[in-house]
Amino acid sequence: MNQTQTIFLQEMSKLKTKQAQWEPFAWYKEMRENSPVFYDAGQNVWNVFLYDDVKRVLVDHRLFSNKKERSFIPVPRDDNRTNINFCDPPEHRTRRGLLAQAFTPRSLREWEPRIQAIADELIAEIEGQATVDIVQKLAIPLPVTVIAELLGVPSRDRELIKAWSDILFYPYSKETFGDVAEQKAQALKEFSDYLYPIVQEKRKHPADDIISDLTRATLEGEQLTDAEVVRFSIGLLGAGNETTTMLISNIFYSMLFDQPGIYREIRADLSLVPKLIEEVLRYRFPVAIDRQVAQDTTVFGHNLKKGQIVVAWTGAANRDESKFDHAENFDIHRPNNQHHLTFGAGPHLCLGAPLARMEANIALTTFVKRFADIYPAEGFNVVEHLTDSAVGQSLKSLPIRLEKA
Ligand code: HEM
Repeated sequence: MNQTQTIFLQEMSKLKTKQAQWEPFAWYKEMRENSPVFYDAGQNVWNVFLYDDVKRVLVDHRLFSNKKERSFIPVPRDDNRTNINFCDPPEHRTRRGLLAQAFTPRSLREWEPRIQAIADELIAEIEGQATVDIVQKLAIPLPVTVIAELLGVPSRDRELIKAWSDILFYPYSKETFGDVAEQKAQALKEFSDYLYPIVQEKRKHPADDIISDLTRATLEGEQLTDAEVVRFSIGLLGAGNETTTMLISNIFYSMLFDQPGIYREIRADLSLVPKLIEEVLRYRFPVAIDRQVAQDTTVFGHNLKKGQIVVAWTGAANRDESKFDHAENFDIHRPNNQHHLTFGAGPHLCLGAPLARMEANIALTTFVKRFADIYPAEGFNVVEHLTDSAVGQSLKSLPIRLEKA
C-alpha cells in the first residue's frame, strides 16, 4: 500500500484530541443527524453512519466490493490467492472455507479447556496484588497466547508476536507515512522469517494445530505454498489479537466508568456475562469497515461512482436510535444488543467472533470469581493511558484496584 492507496480516517473525522478520539460518540451522533451520507472530497471517500446504510454496505457485495484499490486497513497488503479480505464471493467462499473448519463449534469446544488454562494462569499471577494493570496482565497476553497456541506457534514468543502485530496494525497518518511504512515492511519480513521454519517443520511433521491443517489444505486443486501459509498465519495472528485485546480492555473500562456497580451485579449472576460482552461490543467499539463502489448507484440518495470508496462507520451504526432504544445508554439488559455490527455482517462476517466471545467470557468469568470488586486507580486519567494511534483509540494500560473475594 503506498500513500495514494491509503485512506486516512483521522483526516475524515477531524477529531483532534485524544479524548475526542477515545469518545467519538458525539461526532457519530452529529453525523447521523446532520450528514448521514457524507462525501469527503479531500480523499474522494463516502462515509455512512446509519445502521441500515452501514449494514447495506457490508451485506451487498455486488454493489460494495471488497476488491479495493484504496483502503484504511493498515496491514501491508498482499493480493495472493489466499487473501480472505480483499475478495468477493464466489472466490471468497473457497478461501474462507480453508479456515472455516478451524472455527466450528466443535473445534471451539475442544479449545475451551486450553483457553481456560491460559486464563487461570494469568489471573493466578495477579492474585494477592492490590492494583493491577489489567491491559498488560490480561487483555494483551490472553488473546496472543491463545492464537499462538491454536496456530501451533510457541507461546513463549508471544512478546515478539505482539510487537510485530502492533506495528502491522498501527494506523498510518499523513505526517509519518514513510517511516511507518518502513517499520511495517521490516516487521513483516521479520515475522515471515520467524514463521517460515515453523511452517516447513509442520509440513513434515503435522500436529494438531491450524498451521498443520493449512499445510495439508488445498485451494483450486493445489496445496498452499509455504509463503501462502505464512501470510495466512500472520493474518490470523493479527486478526485474533489486537481486536480481542481491545474487547477485554473495554469490558473492564465499561464496568468501571460506563456503569459503575455492574461488576457486583455480574458477580451475583454469572449468566449476565455474555450480555455484558455484547453490550460492550455495541457501546464501546469505535471501528469502521471499507468497501469499493462496484457500479454507479444512488442507493443512499447521492451519486456514488464506481471506484469510489465507502467507509461504513460501524461504531456509529451501533448507536443508531432507530435500531437501539436509548442507544447512548449502557444497558446490558437491552433485548437486541447482539445486533451490533462490530463483527461486520454479510459474507465477511468475522470468522473469529465465537472465539473472541469465548475468550472474553472465560477471562471475565474467571476474574469475577476471584475478586469481590474492582475500582479505578487513584487519580486515573484516561488520556494518559491511550495508544498513540488516531481513530479507534485503544487503551495501552488500565490500572485498577482489586478487592479480594
Ligand atoms: C473482538 C474481537 C474481534 C473483532 C471486533 C473483529 C472484527 C472483525 C470484522 C469487523 C471483520 C470483517 C471485516 C470486513 O468485513 O471487511 C472481521 C473479519 C475476520 N476476523 Fe475478526 N474480529 C475479532 C476477533 C477475531 C478473532 C479472535 C479471529 C481469529 C483468530 C478473527 C478472525 C477474522 C477473520 C479470519 C476475518 C475475515 C473473514 C472474511 O473476510 O471472510 N477475528 N473481524
